[in-house]
Amino acid sequence: METDELTPPVIALSGLTKRYGLGDAEHTVLDGLDLTIDKGEFIAIMGPSGCGKTTLLNILGLLDRGDDGDYELDGRNVETMTSAGRARIRSNQIGLVFQNFNLVSRLNVIENVALPLTYQGKHKTKRLQEASKMLGTFHLSEREYYMPWQLSGGQTQRVAIARALVNNPSIVLADEPTGNLDSRSSHVIMEELADIHRRGNTIIMVTHNPDLTSYASRVIHMVDGRIDSDTKAPRPKKGELAPKKPLGTKRKPAKKPRKTKARKS
Ligand SMILES: Nc1ncnc2c1ncn2[C@@H]1O[C@H](COP(=O)(O)OP(=O)(O)O)[C@@H](O)[C@H]1O
Ligand SMILES: [Mg+2]
Repeated sequence: METDELTPPVIALSGLTKRYGLGDAEHTVLDGLDLTIDKGEFIAIMGPSGCGKTTLLNILGLLDRGDDGDYELDGRNVETMTSAGRARIRSNQIGLVFQNFNLVSRLNVIENVALPLTYQGKHKTKRLQEASKMLGTFHLSEREYYMPWQLSGGQTQRVAIARALVNNPSIVLADEPTGNLDSRSSHVIMEELADIHRRGNTIIMVTHNPDLTSYASRVIHMVDGRIDSDTKAPRPKKGELAPKKPLGTKRKPAKKPRKTKARKS
């Protein structure tokens, strides 16, 4: 678990423990996790319901704290930081794609997406331009001035994701980002995550869909608050995008035609 490199890992957990409940009702949801994640990894986390995936992402995203153990983010111990310090890191560096992150109901779509940029002190026109560009990426340009209640479930989710990504976070935490979406919408979202990854950022995504792990450079399986397996994907980082496409579709020369000498030219 030691790092020999000069740059610290993006995320280093050691002995991270989280418990809920008291006395007899106490149970350990994260059981002494050790985990090191380097910049530019695309991690898929899988595991049965209740094994602690969301709890882990909440802690990684600085929405919650562990009870024991250490969490270093970019080499800084974030467990001991003030809430204000953690909030600053969250708004500048982390994109949270969580299903239960609701849009602000009194703001329209483009204002919702522009919201995270307010913290960065950008001028309003600039904020709206960036939000508009992001909405375009998600094929939502024609919905910019809709109110949240006028959107379908899938559109709402795409807007929430656009909002999570608008500030160009270097770490994206996604909890079943394509959970309720049809395959076309899922594809749009996975492409966007893959693109963020290609730009050198770090993605940590919880998913139940084994097909989606083909986007990942590393797949972690959790069981009962522990890491059960941790596998680096063999494929190159560049990321061919279509998850199910077999690598062999490139058309290799079929078994060599054995007639090299038969013909003269
Ligand atoms: N706020 C909470 N209070 C008490 N128990 C919780 C709370 N949040 C999660 N849990 C419990 O922690 C365990 C792990 O939950 P969670 O991290 O949501 O799992 P997963 O995302 O893998 O399905 C579950 O048993 C869940 O009931
Ligand atoms: Mg969960």
